[in-house]
Amino acid sequence: MAEQTSVEGVEHQLRGLRTRLEEKYGPLRGRIELEARVSPNLHEIGGLEKAKLEIEGLGHAFRDPALQKRWGTKTSRAILLYGPPGTGKSLLASALALRAEAALVLLRMACMLLRWQDQSPVLLRDLLNGLEGAGRVVLFLDELDALHQERLRLVTSDAARGMMFAFLLVFLDDLEYREEYLVVASTNRPDSIHPDFVRPGRFDRLIEMTLPSPEEQRVILEIHKARAEAIAGRPLFQALDYPPLLKRIEGMSGADLAEVIRRALEDKMRLEARGDRPDLVSTEDLVREAEVFRRIKVVGERIRTGQYL
Ligand SMILES: Nc1ncnc2c1ncn2[C@@H]1O[C@H](COP(=O)(O)OP(=O)(O)OP(=O)(O)O)[C@@H](O)[C@H]1O
Ligand SMILES: [Mg+2]
Repeated sequence: MAEQTSVEGVEHQLRGLRTRLEEKYGPLRGRIELEARVSPNLHEIGGLEKAKLEIEGLGHAFRDPALQKRWGTKTSRAILLYGPPGTGKSLLASALALRAEAALVLLRMACMLLRWQDQSPVLLRDLLNGLEGAGRVVLFLDELDALHQERLRLVTSDAARGMMFAFLLVFLDDLEYREEYLVVASTNRPDSIHPDFVRPGRFDRLIEMTLPSPEEQRVILEIHKARAEAIAGRPLFQALDYPPLLKRIEGMSGADLAEVIRRALEDKMRLEARGDRPDLVSTEDLVREAEVFRRIKVVGERIRTGQYL
């Protein structure tokens, strides 16, 4: 494999590519991201010890082909992360790129199909052509199941989705000759992934993402708490009393917990803006926000799954 281009060089190339694509297709932001520098680090992801271990190994091997040769094997370069919403699939894909010292190219499949519709396959081809010479790339296909989602049939033709599908299958089949790519896909609906994607030689490493256990929830809360305090440069939370808190957040995902923290901080900001001097965030504050959020989430879930229609 060629020497990895410098991060500055890759950054420059990705910027140029973005400009060219945007001239032709309009703004990419929110649908396609091209990043030479990524975060977070694996240790900023709470829980998921088994998945993180696998990702660490795969990222390392991808970065160091000589290591693979020394052990007489080749590791997988097509990984499917599956599990409930908000469990850290996107986080893990970014952490993999960081671990592998690779650029991250993120395609939000549903948003992409919705925005570019029948142009999507051509855009994908232009994008991949433009990545030539960018060194190691983690290509992240977020929401891979979108390709076969019923609702997207309203905006994209079967032909366009068929072309995208075929394009990706061929890309996976050719990975052997594209040593600079590691492909990661994510889904929270593994039952909607086309079986051809998981044939041998295609997505051959499946990694399960699970909802956090109470102990993992505690770690996740601490991560988000520490992050907010690092940004603010001061303590924002009282010492938390975990046993009662953990009872009230049972079953919540990492994304839910991040939202609970955000809402508690938002509440403090509102008080300060009103002229009060709010206390630090307490266990009771988080319990209250968790309860409100749980109720709201049920409504969101019902809207999303069409139960109100
Ligand atoms: N294990 C975790 N540790 C720390 N934060 C987490 C974790 N899981 C989720 N989060 C928080 O939730 C946010 C959303 O997570 P992420 O986008 O990775 O979930 P996802 O599994 O990709 O969800 P979806 O299936 O909805 O795309 C993250 O940006 C982070 O703030
Ligand atoms: Mg995601």
